Amino acid sequence: MIILSIETSCDDTGVAILEKSEKGIRTLASIVSSQDEIHKKWGGVYPSEAKREHQKNLVPTLKEALKKAGLLEKGKTTIPENLESFFEKEKLLHEDLCDFLQGHSLKGKIDKIAVTVGPGLEPCLWVGINFAKALALCLGTPIVPVNHIKAHILFFLLDRKKIHFPAVSLIVSGGHTEIILMESLYSFSLIGKTRDDAAGECFDKAARILGLGYPGGPAIAEKANKKRVQREKTPSKKEKIFSIDLPRPMMKARNYDLSFSGLKTAVLYDHLKRSEKIKREEEYIMEMSEEIEEAITDVLVSKLEKAIKEYDARTLLLGGGVTANRTLQKKVKALKEKFPELAIILPSLHLSTDNAEMVGIAATVEEERDPEIIKANANLKIYDTMASNTK
Ligand code: KG4
Ligand code: ZN
Repeated sequence: MIILSIETSCDDTGVAILEKSEKGIRTLASIVSSQDEIHKKWGGVYPSEAKREHQKNLVPTLKEALKKAGLLEKGKTTIPENLESFFEKEKLLHEDLCDFLQGHSLKGKIDKIAVTVGPGLEPCLWVGINFAKALALCLGTPIVPVNHIKAHILFFLLDRKKIHFPAVSLIVSGGHTEIILMESLYSFSLIGKTRDDAAGECFDKAARILGLGYPGGPAIAEKANKKRVQREKTPSKKEKIFSIDLPRPMMKARNYDLSFSGLKTAVLYDHLKRSEKIKREEEYIMEMSEEIEEAITDVLVSKLEKAIKEYDARTLLLGGGVTANRTLQKKVKALKEKFPELAIILPSLHLSTDNAEMVGIAATVEEERDPEIIKANANLKIYDTMASNTK
């Protein structure tokens, strides 16, 4: 069984090709075309621009994935008469796809198409969905709609078929910060989420205040790390020079909800009260970056610890771009001291940020649906079945 998967929920265009057999799941190709360069100038993702980029990138990304998987073959794929009807607002993509199909033979190479249907930016989701529907029609394959958050959680199926339940999962990215309880492969409940900004968004906004680049998470992590290295090398510099003390929002709250917009405001206030000279000082930026990183990761890990205790979790799963953060990884791994029986599963870097590979993996446990009812749902919930897309 060969699965072709498509991811366009935010600013990454992903196409992957996976093979599922009795032995398990194998990735034949996973290509991600990043739009970071485009969105740098806004300091965040601008939906209409992201949509335009997906349109431009989908066919080249598909082509590269097919080539890598050894499935790119010169020839011709018959184009159905009504193909254009899938691309009312995506004329460019329609032209690109037709050009590609006229020069390549795809028939019989793909058994299933998987596509992210939400949550995410609606215009971006639609580009991927329309592309998936058009391809499914050309190739005569079924379509499996996939929840982006579930895909971030289910990546572990690539390497292992089984984990022990209950599992607590933290999905933490530029768009999401959610704590999910998983009682089986098919049972997900949302136990906590951010009330405002996502943790990655907080990194990005704080980085913007400090004049660091986009995406902000890696930039802040780099400065924070520089501060730690400096402190190790020069123990006399142990004390904080600027006495920055950021809040840990909702850390003591009894529930699992989170909030990061106050933290960003605290960064802004501290920054505003500094002189222009200090604002530009590397020492200030490093110290502030370290405190931002510590504050965000303290809150996340304390909520996880509480959830593991309350739900007697046997597995902890992490997903999303922010899991690339070393400080977060270190604090999460340290939970093992308190919960020696807990299995902690972290995605490798390429599976933590948005990609189509995880969408294909999730599709191995999701159902096929009638293309007619498959729609984009920007606010798709973890407990929604895809059928609820018909509403
Ligand atoms: O999952 P992702 O690639 O895209 C979505 O937001 O869906 O996550 C991107 C987010 C950005 O906010 C970025 O700043 C953050 O992940 N990020 C990090 C690190 N690497 C990426 N945050 C903190 N530390 C990092 N090393
Ligand atoms: Zn994501």
